Amino acid sequence: MKVITVKDQVEGGKVAFELLKEKLDQGAKVLGLATGSTPIEFYKEIVASDVDLSSLVSVNLDEYVGLSADDEQSYAYFMKENLFAEKPLKVSYLPNGLAENPAEEALRYNQILAENPIDFQILGIGRNGHIGFNEPGASFEGVTRVVDLTPSTIAANARFFQDENQVPKQAYSMGIANIMASKTIVLMAYGAEKADAVYGMVNGPVTEELPASILQKHADVVVIVDQAAAAKL
Ligand code: GLP
Repeated sequence: MKVITVKDQVEGGKVAFELLKEKLDQGAKVLGLATGSTPIEFYKEIVASDVDLSSLVSVNLDEYVGLSADDEQSYAYFMKENLFAEKPLKVSYLPNGLAENPAEEALRYNQILAENPIDFQILGIGRNGHIGFNEPGASFEGVTRVVDLTPSTIAANARFFQDENQVPKQAYSMGIANIMASKTIVLMAYGAEKADAVYGMVNGPVTEELPASILQKHADVVVIVDQAAAAKL
């Protein structure tokens, strides 16, 4: 696990973008993408650049259960706004929040992942150490499924909704095993509220109680943090 400390999120976005370009030059074809506030500057760098993503495939980490792709709070909408509208890829996959049969939808998504092994995965981290929506206690062997969000994640994500009651209680999420199968992983974390999670991920025991700690076992992980997120390292 390589840790790079940056001045701020803007510099972090640039560092992550340089890593992406390096992997694209080496032939990366499938991108694993994340939502949340953390990767926004990274997407801005891509949009402002002349990189051509039109022959690439992307697979997103997660999506809320019950939200349509047109819903402004959906991750499909986030991706369209922050990346796809400006830099369309050949195909971009996200779980369908409105799927009638969630178990089948999760199977479909795992099939997509089996057919499109991820070369370069972008990650943020939750305050409790979650990655994707793999909350504390999620199995390291897990694949895409419907998960119940913890009260702390619902509270943290409420800032994007009008009020906390509107935050969906469930989401589709790739599992830890899907994430670990990516060739390269770049995780970004900014701000003091991420410092405990970053410490546990980098220096703590590898435990399902802090899902991101499994990344210590991955051969190619770069962690990009600002001073505040790195404060406890
Ligand atoms: C959400 C997402 C994660 C994200 C995390 C942190 O719960 N499912 O993929 O990494 O929150 O979000 P933020 O980047 O806004 O701090």
